[in-house]
Amino acid sequence: MDSNVDYSRLKIPTHVAIIVDGNGRWAKERGMSRLKGHDAGFDNLRELVRYIMSRGIKVLSLYVFSTENFKRAKEEVGHLMDLFILMYKKELKTFMKDNIKVVFSGRDEPLPKSVIKARDKLVEATKNNTGGIVNFCMNYGGRAEIMDAVKKIAHSGVDVDRLTDEDFRHYLYQDLPDIDLMIRTSGELRLSNFLLWQNSYAEFYFPKTKFPDFHAEDFDQAIIEYTSRDRRFGGIKNN
Ligand code: FPP
Repeated sequence: MDSNVDYSRLKIPTHVAIIVDGNGRWAKERGMSRLKGHDAGFDNLRELVRYIMSRGIKVLSLYVFSTENFKRAKEEVGHLMDLFILMYKKELKTFMKDNIKVVFSGRDEPLPKSVIKARDKLVEATKNNTGGIVNFCMNYGGRAEIMDAVKKIAHSGVDVDRLTDEDFRHYLYQDLPDIDLMIRTSGELRLSNFLLWQNSYAEFYFPKTKFPDFHAEDFDQAIIEYTSRDRRFGGIKNN
């Protein structure tokens, strides 16, 4: 996966988030099963993550499975769980070679033990890597994350009257910078409970391309578009 775009002329976001969407529709268009769509998404994700991290993005968050996705057919959920295990096992070497630290956001329950085991192994192996962070949001929900943070705060005995925005961030699943660019593939125009706190001032980009077809050149287009955005963070001056 490569492109001809000169990134030195572009504004590089620190934190990019992607809602991986459209695998099912991509497969349906081709007369294939939804599972095949996830296989294609899986292959694309492996390539895309490497490409994005090679472009100087420091943090990449990926919404690969929401808490609500457990409502899908058992066969589909099982297949996705198998793909997660495969991804975490298969990519360990690559993440080590590329010096990428992998973290996860989401609740454990009701993830299968085998997924948790593969996840924890990847986290442990990559924890001292310094070349960038990939944050897999798996069994993730934005409201749940905020609720879990509130509960942690309540139990910690911290003086809530002195608590700032920045303090609150430390209680989220991962202590990461705000999202600069949020991409959702497949033409859907929704946030779907994704990183609600971290997306407060994100620039949104909604390509029509379904995820298995979202490649390096499509990501370049997102960065070109991001470069042209005027970010004011609620103020009046251009940042
Ligand atoms: C959304 O498409 C995609 C998902 C719910 C899962 C994404 C998973 C992968 C790309 C597989 C591999 C990922 C890892 C981290 C191993 P959809 O099924 O909602 O598509 P639709 O909206 O067209 O039905």
